[in-house]
Amino acid sequence: MAETPRRDVRNHVLFEVATEVANRVGGIYSVLKSKAQVTTAEYGSTYTLLGPLNRASAAVEVEEIEPKDPAMKATIQSMNERGIQTLYGRWLIDGAPRVLLFDTGTGYYKLDEWKGDLWSTAGIPSPPDDHETNEAIVFGYLIAWFLGEYVYHEKERAVIAQFHEWLAGVALPLCKKRKIDVTTIFTTHATLLGRYLCAGSVDFYNNLQNFDCDAEAGKRGIYHRYCIERGAAHAADVFTTVSHITAYESEHLLKRKPDGVLPNGLNVKKFSATHEFQNLHQTNKERINDFVRGHFYGHNDFDLDKTLYFFTAGRYEYRNKGVDMFIESLARLNHEMKSAGSDMTVVAFIIMPAQTTSLAVEALKGQAVMKSLHDTIGNIEKNIGKKLFDKSIAWKEGQDPPDDKDLLSPQDKVMLRRRLYAMKRYNLPPIVTHNMVTDAEDPILNQIRRCQLFNHPTDRVKVIFHPEFLNSANPVLPMDYDDFVRGTHMGVFASYYEPWGYTPAECTVMGVPSITTNLSGFGCYMEELIENAQDYGIYIVDRRMKGIDDSVNQLTYFMHEFTKKSKRQRINQRNRTERLSDLLDWKRMGMEYVKARQLALRRAYPDSFTDDMDEPSFFDEGNVKLTRPLSAPGSPRERSGMMTPGDFASLQEGREGLSTEDYIAWKLPEEEETEEYAFPL
Ligand code: UDP
Ligand code: G6P
Ligand code: GLC
Repeated sequence: MAETPRRDVRNHVLFEVATEVANRVGGIYSVLKSKAQVTTAEYGSTYTLLGPLNRASAAVEVEEIEPKDPAMKATIQSMNERGIQTLYGRWLIDGAPRVLLFDTGTGYYKLDEWKGDLWSTAGIPSPPDDHETNEAIVFGYLIAWFLGEYVYHEKERAVIAQFHEWLAGVALPLCKKRKIDVTTIFTTHATLLGRYLCAGSVDFYNNLQNFDCDAEAGKRGIYHRYCIERGAAHAADVFTTVSHITAYESEHLLKRKPDGVLPNGLNVKKFSATHEFQNLHQTNKERINDFVRGHFYGHNDFDLDKTLYFFTAGRYEYRNKGVDMFIESLARLNHEMKSAGSDMTVVAFIIMPAQTTSLAVEALKGQAVMKSLHDTIGNIEKNIGKKLFDKSIAWKEGQDPPDDKDLLSPQDKVMLRRRLYAMKRYNLPPIVTHNMVTDAEDPILNQIRRCQLFNHPTDRVKVIFHPEFLNSANPVLPMDYDDFVRGTHMGVFASYYEPWGYTPAECTVMGVPSITTNLSGFGCYMEELIENAQDYGIYIVDRRMKGIDDSVNQLTYFMHEFTKKSKRQRINQRNRTERLSDLLDWKRMGMEYVKARQLALRRAYPDSFTDDMDEPSFFDEGNVKLTRPLSAPGSPRERSGMMTPGDFASLQEGREGLSTEDYIAWKLPEEEETEEYAFPL
């Protein structure tokens, strides 16, 4: 809280603190990266992201620069002089925000002292061998150190520090205890207990009010982490989460009702013409086709033009991410498609990083065999072309035209036969592309085994488990994640625990239909906002009111119905899905962040706000305005009351701030005629 009300709240400085700054782990990286453009547009050089230094990823993501802000310069210099190494630079992403990364390793010489201090000042214990917690403590103390010195050097402007998730939360109680003159926001993207309890076999949502949190955390060996998270939530001036469902969970598990919900947006890049994203689908699907031809060598007995690519992706949280349900539903889908005599094939990808030793030989061989075949046929083509040309120029009137039988030389025939023999295969195409460290115990593989999805020729549903995030440098499936998503037909995210869930949101902006659940923040958000969501390629499985078996059947039904669509129907649906993009754009979603910051300033510096005072600077002319999204007519759901996730709590105190109407007046753009598009059907 503020010691002095004199700070300038209009021209304030903003810090965002997280462990995923320039360092991809999961969805928080996506939040920071995709939001950077709107936040830098609003703040320019007064916005800096603070994170721990991961040298490997910083080497490719960050360009070092000299700080210009005198307070920043002085603070960094003082910390460097006391042994703390830092990297200040620009994060090489859209918006190019400034980042300051701290080498936590250089702070470990104070670990014991800080652990003692954390216990005596905040009552938070820390066992000796929890590396992740040690990292969180060192990082938290470095951040508190930084903020304390920064506000010592910067005496004019107000400072907002927004912290994401418990791993970045240790500094919050410290800021409060030390009365550092900053105002703070804590945004949690999940709760520790929620994740742990859901991963087990409890009926989480029906028991939220009843858990003895301390005892549950203790049983799972995470009591100290839970203390950090709870301490952070209570110490912050403003406490927020990413969805209503997580807000409700936080209220019960962290014992503080969030002040509001900050939903996650995306940096939406619109194409000038709709067919461009459809073309991208086609090109990227071709790349997936290439992989599939290799993977299924010797078993390419299904028509790729009648093949649909489904996928799920994310951090490996087997039950939370609904992989158990996905595989079970695929097995039922396989059965139904077989019984119905469907001529379609579904290839389902599971992309979840697990511990692996190397790429599997069979997976590499498949791609190699296909490449050799491709090269050989390329040579044969050239030879035939040359021969045909030579014969044609030697042709004289009265002779027969060149005979195709003479075109293929004996050598070519031998080469071709060799390639064909190399494609003989006595085993079934593999499920997993890598050698797993724990193959026999792996939950995904065991579920696939239990459901007997073994890529048999008679199976209409084939499964490929890629236990590594995608990367275009990978020799087996050389594609970046975004390109891969574009090439697929549908993303399936049957999550049981999913505070937001970026993966289906990313599908939506790329025009790829997705299935999610009403236990995911994103699913609930879309369900709330769009009527007939299925028409827009947003399928939501009910995991709240239905029993597991019924939910599995519903998921199977959605997938089966999708396989019955014609190509034209799929194309039309993709167009409709893509039209929802504006709904997820940070230009719209970011308004909740603006409101949270405003509330933080008002709480810390109430005397700087008078009732007749204008809004703080970010609403004033001269600053970049967050534009109002498309307002073409259409049919958004008629809603009163909860219009955006931000309405969970008003994020506004004392007086009316931003009008919610300013940014929820979003409407679905008008349906366009598909006939206008320049793509072949
Ligand atoms: N992702 C990725 N590469 C992959 C698969 C997934 O970068 O091969 C990203 C994906 O784009 C998404 C993030 O991982 O932004 C997962 O975020 P989500 O919010 O769905 O889940 P979290 O991991 O945060 O629980
Ligand atoms: C895009 C392309 C079309 C292609 C279609 C395939 O719309 O522009 O040229 O025919 O994708 O769609 P499908 O759902 O069969 O992959
Ligand atoms: C968390 C959640 C995920 C959310 C992400 C970003 O990691 O698991 O659902 O999308 O944070 O908020």
